[in-house]
Amino acid sequence: MTNTDNNSAKTTTATAKTNAAPVRHDDADIIAQMRQLINALRIHNNAYYVLDEPQISDNEYDQLRLSLIELEEAYPDLIQPDSPTGQIGDSPLAAFSQLPHDIPMLSLGNVFNQDDLADFMRRVNDRLNAAQQNPEYEIEMKLDGLAVSIKYEYGKYVQAITRGDGQVGEDITQNVKTINNLPLVLDAVADIALLEVRGEVLMPKAGFERLNRQAEESGGKTFANPRNAAAGSLRQLDPNIAASRPLAFYAYSVNQGLPETISRQSDALAWLKEIGFTVSAVQVVKGLTEAQSYYESVNDSRPELPFEIDGTVIKVNNLDLQSQLGFLSREPRWATAYKFPAETVMTTLNSIEWQVGRTGQITPVGKLEPVQVGGVTVSNVTLHNFGEIQRLDVRAGDTVSVHRAGDVIPKISRVWHEMRPEGTTPVVLPKACPVCESPVVIPEGEALARCTGELFCPAQQQEALIHFVSRRAMDIDGVGERWLISFFEQGIVKTVADIYRLKDHQDELVNIEKLGEKSVTNMLTAIEASKKTTLSRFIYALGIRGVGESTAQNLAQQFGDLPALEAATIEKLQETPDVGDITAEQVYNFFRAQHNIDVIQALIAAGVHWDKVEQVATEGLPLDGQTWVITGTLSSMSRDEAKVRLQALGAKVSGSISAKTSALLAGEKAGSKLTKAEKLEVKVVDEAEFLALIGE
Ligand code: IVH
Repeated sequence: MTNTDNNSAKTTTATAKTNAAPVRHDDADIIAQMRQLINALRIHNNAYYVLDEPQISDNEYDQLRLSLIELEEAYPDLIQPDSPTGQIGDSPLAAFSQLPHDIPMLSLGNVFNQDDLADFMRRVNDRLNAAQQNPEYEIEMKLDGLAVSIKYEYGKYVQAITRGDGQVGEDITQNVKTINNLPLVLDAVADIALLEVRGEVLMPKAGFERLNRQAEESGGKTFANPRNAAAGSLRQLDPNIAASRPLAFYAYSVNQGLPETISRQSDALAWLKEIGFTVSAVQVVKGLTEAQSYYESVNDSRPELPFEIDGTVIKVNNLDLQSQLGFLSREPRWATAYKFPAETVMTTLNSIEWQVGRTGQITPVGKLEPVQVGGVTVSNVTLHNFGEIQRLDVRAGDTVSVHRAGDVIPKISRVWHEMRPEGTTPVVLPKACPVCESPVVIPEGEALARCTGELFCPAQQQEALIHFVSRRAMDIDGVGERWLISFFEQGIVKTVADIYRLKDHQDELVNIEKLGEKSVTNMLTAIEASKKTTLSRFIYALGIRGVGESTAQNLAQQFGDLPALEAATIEKLQETPDVGDITAEQVYNFFRAQHNIDVIQALIAAGVHWDKVEQVATEGLPLDGQTWVITGTLSSMSRDEAKVRLQALGAKVSGSISAKTSALLAGEKAGSKLTKAEKLEVKVVDEAEFLALIGE
């Protein structure tokens, strides 16, 4: 497109708008060209994604797309509403708006082996009558992307929403519209008033690698894995950026508008494919053995697939049976995910380093020869404690297997002793702290080695500072970690109280390289603002060993104000929910150490203050005297909200399960706490029961 063309386009556009003239000859031409390109792109998208029989090369495809984009850039007012380029001509959104789902978007339960799958099928049978036993199942791939609900009205694309919390999602209509293989017009269903299709938006492996390569070349940010890349692309407020990302949509269900003649999930998917959607492979199976062998064949085919999957999804095929089986607390009884085992990769453990944490814990960190595990590069692996090193019998130089399940941090799952090279030596616990050289001890009853340097140890001082300003502590977001470390290293800030004296060093600060005047002002404003806090934040910010956020809240609630807490005896402290013998002693000792008393006095003198805690009178409330623990993900509210609701009913909320716990509120993906509760025979309450309890 030449400049003259561009200019003439602009003038014709202006006339067209002011005169509302009939379409002039050249506009009609442009529109015809655009329609041709759109049709060609639709045909080739379908050939590539749906029929899996590409008719042109990727380059040719890109050419077609580019020609359309050029036309659209030259004639923005002629852009066709169903253009797949996403050059909608609108400016970026300020924020996504929230939209409710007509039908909640739920999640799936998980199984990991054949026995679990057999249990799942047994539970299905238990709910079916004699004639319905051993129903047909259908197996799909579990695509590793993001769930999206898409609506069509009379065959025209109108809306796309993210899963969100399952009830309400974000309106990503503009971004999803730019996905290449998503049909925007469904000629075959122009008579269906409302069609809702759900599926997964993902980034194919090849596109992901291309995107990261480009980002690397231009010094931009790379994505850890295709799933993150897809999520990041959908979260773009500017649809032109989303349009430039290689995304694809794979449909997996019809939630509204399915023709009544279709009565099986496998037929629904065949129908989706017929009307123009991309669907992944589908297999109908009869029973456990067939299901298991298909699952294994899908697992074997993973390297050849163009996208990442993390398992299969097995669904009761008959749609009437699906409705009959229904849901149990946010998960369908008629379907489950059958996940693949976490990917395991072998590499070399190059060395073991010892790191000093905030409270002096000395943890071994394994430095690995970097490897790709589950789509991310792993070069560090936590070894937890010295006992773990002994249990694994691992040495620097060993070959190890590393695995990573979902978002979980990498772990060593196996040490290949038979491959140990000559000349390795057993790991020894350092006798002195690697930072301050104070003696290292393993206190009785604890697994972790500790530096005895306490606040004499620079590593602990530095970590204490970072913890103090962190979001859930004093929340001083103007003081970045990097600057804090720099102030610490220059001796401007030694203890947390010095943060409130930074304003006396304004001249020095402004002179620090790269720290501009504006940053200094912002920083000092944030520090001033943090002076008004709450007692529980303050207690948490002090960084007392064993006092996490929830314990800090319980201490604040129990004692109401700082002097009472400072004066508390060990026995009195033990009455606080969550506070066991060891923590009680640590809190007691903390308030008896002169350097801690000095810091607290300095903070209060600097103006740090809070409102006295309203100690809730719980007498007569339904849950008075009970201690609850919350675990897992709740779909209707955050855990913090659930905690407030429980407290409003008089319950104490603790962070750990013990025999004294009255009940465990367990959301989805509850882990070790659920296991522990079951072992200790603590009552377990699911979300539905909890909602009933709080009257919702
Ligand atoms: S069906 C009632 N089918 O898995 C829920 N889900 O853990 C029905 N997913 O959020 C979901 N591939 O995003 C279904 N073939 C597939 C899927 C699939 C991936 C995702 C989906 C959902 C998550 C559930």
